[in-house]
Amino acid sequence: MTEQHVYPVREDIAANAWADKEKYLAMYQQSVDDPEGFWAEQAKRIDWFKSPTRIKHTSFDPHDVDIRWFEDGTLNASVNCLDRHLATRGDQTAIIWEGDDPNDAKHLTYREVYERTNQLANALKALGVRKGDVVTLYMPMIPEAAMAMLACARIGAVHSVVFGGFSPDALAQRVIGADSKLVITADESVRGGKQVPLKDNVDAALTRAGAEVCEKVLVVKRTGGDIDWHEGRDVWFHEAVDDQSTECAAEEMNAEDPLFILYTSGSTGAPKGLKHTTGGYLTYASLTHQYVFDYQDGEVYWCTADVGWVTGHSYIVYGPLANGAITLMFEGVPSYPTHGRMGEIVDKHKVNILYTAPTAVRALMAHGDHVMDSSKRDSLRLLGSVGEPINPEAWEWFYRVIGNSRCPIVDTWWQTETGGIMISPLPGAIDLKPGSATRPFFGVQPVLLDSEGQVLEGAVDGNLAIADSWPGQARSIWGDHERFVQTYFSTYKGYYFTGDGCRRDEDGYYWITGRVDDVLNVSGHRMGTAEIESSLVAHETVAEAAVVGFPHDIKGQGIYIYVTLADGVEATEELKKELAQWVRKDIGPIATPDVIQWAPGLPKTRSGKIMRRILRKIAANECDGLGDTSTLADPSVVDELIEHRANR
Ligand code: PRX
Repeated sequence: MTEQHVYPVREDIAANAWADKEKYLAMYQQSVDDPEGFWAEQAKRIDWFKSPTRIKHTSFDPHDVDIRWFEDGTLNASVNCLDRHLATRGDQTAIIWEGDDPNDAKHLTYREVYERTNQLANALKALGVRKGDVVTLYMPMIPEAAMAMLACARIGAVHSVVFGGFSPDALAQRVIGADSKLVITADESVRGGKQVPLKDNVDAALTRAGAEVCEKVLVVKRTGGDIDWHEGRDVWFHEAVDDQSTECAAEEMNAEDPLFILYTSGSTGAPKGLKHTTGGYLTYASLTHQYVFDYQDGEVYWCTADVGWVTGHSYIVYGPLANGAITLMFEGVPSYPTHGRMGEIVDKHKVNILYTAPTAVRALMAHGDHVMDSSKRDSLRLLGSVGEPINPEAWEWFYRVIGNSRCPIVDTWWQTETGGIMISPLPGAIDLKPGSATRPFFGVQPVLLDSEGQVLEGAVDGNLAIADSWPGQARSIWGDHERFVQTYFSTYKGYYFTGDGCRRDEDGYYWITGRVDDVLNVSGHRMGTAEIESSLVAHETVAEAAVVGFPHDIKGQGIYIYVTLADGVEATEELKKELAQWVRKDIGPIATPDVIQWAPGLPKTRSGKIMRRILRKIAANECDGLGDTSTLADPSVVDELIEHRANR
C-alpha cells in the first residue's frame, strides 16, 4: 500500500528549518502542558500597543462557550503587516502580482502597500466608515483586495470578503446578513481571458430586498469595461483614494475586537458568517505561516487560493505579511493560457514555496507528465496542499513531477472556523506519508470520538474533534452565537467538533477521511447540500430535491442531484439543463450540478427523513452495498432509482 511509503525529513531542510524533530516535540509538549506560558511567549511575535497579560480564557462548555485570547492586549493588524516592516524592509517586495494575462505583472514594496493602504483607509473614513462597521469586499485577485482588507483593519472596520465567483443573490444574502454599509468591488475581474461582471453583479445584488443597507459602492477600475453608474452611491476607487494622505493613524484595537467575518457553508441553513478576532488570529496565522512553510527571509511564497476563502485570508495576506514575506498573488486560473501556467509562474518569479489544492494537482495530472515541460521549477523548495484530502496518487505526482522529487509536501488540514493550519507536517521535523496530514500543530489537541461520544485511543477511525482552544479559532457566528454553540459544541460535550472523519494510524499520524455531515467539498470549495436543495425547490417545476456528493476524479467530489418534479411537469433533458443553470445562477458557477437524476420518489424513513446514505451509494454506483433498507416507508423507490441511475 502507498500508505506504507514514508518520505523521511530531508537533512538539508532539517538543518536550517525553524523546527527539527526535537524542537517540534519540545514545543508541542510545552504548548499542551502549559498553554498560557507557550502562547504568552508566542504573542511576542506581534507588535502590541499594550502587551497582553491575560493570555487564555476559554470554555467549550455548551452552556457557556466563551473564547478569549490575549484579552487585555491591544494592537492593530495592519500595523503588524505593514508599518513594522518599513524600517527594515520598506523597499523589499511585499506583493508580487501576476495578472491573468502572462504579460501583466508588478511588484509592490512594503512601503508602496503601506502608503496605498493608508490612503484607502483615509478614503473609507471619508466615506463614513467607522470602527465596527462591516465592509464587504467582492473583488478580483488584485493587490487592491489585500489593501482593502488591511485598510479596514487599520480603521477598525470589519471586512467580509465574498468570493468573486458568487452570484448576486449569494452576495446580497451576505451584505444583508452582515448589515454592510459599503461594498468594495471592481468594474470587472479577468479570469482565463474572460471578463466577469463584478460591478453588474453588485448592482443586481443591491436591488434585493434588504440590501439597501448598503449605501456606497467603491469601484476599482480594473478593465475599463462598460458599467452602469448609480450617482450618489457609486464612487471610483482612484478618485476617492489618489488625493488622500499616505498616513492614517491606526486604530488601537482590543485583541478580541473582530477583524473579519467570513461566510462558509454548513450542513443546514444559510451560510454562516464566522467571526474572527484580532490578536489570537494574527498570532496564529503568523506562527503557522512561519513554521509550516518553514518560511525563510527573502523567499518567494505563492498560495494559489482566492482571497475570498479563508486560505487567502490567512496565507496570502495576514500570515505572510505579518512575517514580512514576499507573497505572490495570481489573478487568473492555472489552465490559462496553457496548462503549463503554474510552472511558468514559478519560473518567472522564482517561487520557493508553492501552496495549492489537490483539485489543481489532479487537473494537471490528467494531462500527463508533459504538462509541466514548459517550466523547470528549480526554485521550488517546498510544496503545500489544502482544501480536501489529497489522494496518495496525486500526492506522488505532485512530489515527483511538480516538485522534481526534491520538495517536501505539507498537507495542511484546517477550516474556515480554525483560522489557521491545525494538522500538518513541519518540513524539518515530521516524516511524510502521502495522503496524511500527519501531526497536530502547536497547541492543537485532536481527539477521535465514536458516534456515542466515547474518546477512542490508539490506531482507530472516528469523528475528529479538538479538545482545547487555540488562538486562531473563530469566536462566534456573526449575530448568532447560539448557532455557533449548536453547530460546533453540542455534538460532543466539551469539544469543538470539526465535522470531519479521521483515522489515526499506529504512528499517531492523522488521515482526514472527509466530511461526516451534509457538507460537500467540490474542488476544495465547501458547499451545503441544504443550500443547493433550497435553490432547487424554489424552481416552480420542482417538488422535492436531494443533493449528495459522489467521487469525482478531478473535483474530489461532484454534485449529484435527485429531483422529484411537481405533478404534471414533463421530465425532459431541456429541463435538466434549465435546473442546472438555475442553481448556477442562484449560487454561483462552483455549485453547478454534475448529474441530475429524476426521482419519482425519494427513499424516506417512516418519519419522513430522507435517507441520504442510500442516495450517496447510488450516486457512487455502489448499489450492491446499500445496507439495511427495511426502515424505508417504501423500499421500492430504491429499485426505481437504481434502475434509472444517471449514466456517467
Ligand atoms: O473537510 C475538510 C476539508 O475542508 C474542510 C474545510 O473547508 P473550508 O472551511 O472551506 O476551508 C478550506 C481551507 C482551509 C475541512 O472540514 N479539508 C481542508 N483541508 C484538508 C481537508 N481535508 C483533508 N485534508 C486537508 N488537508
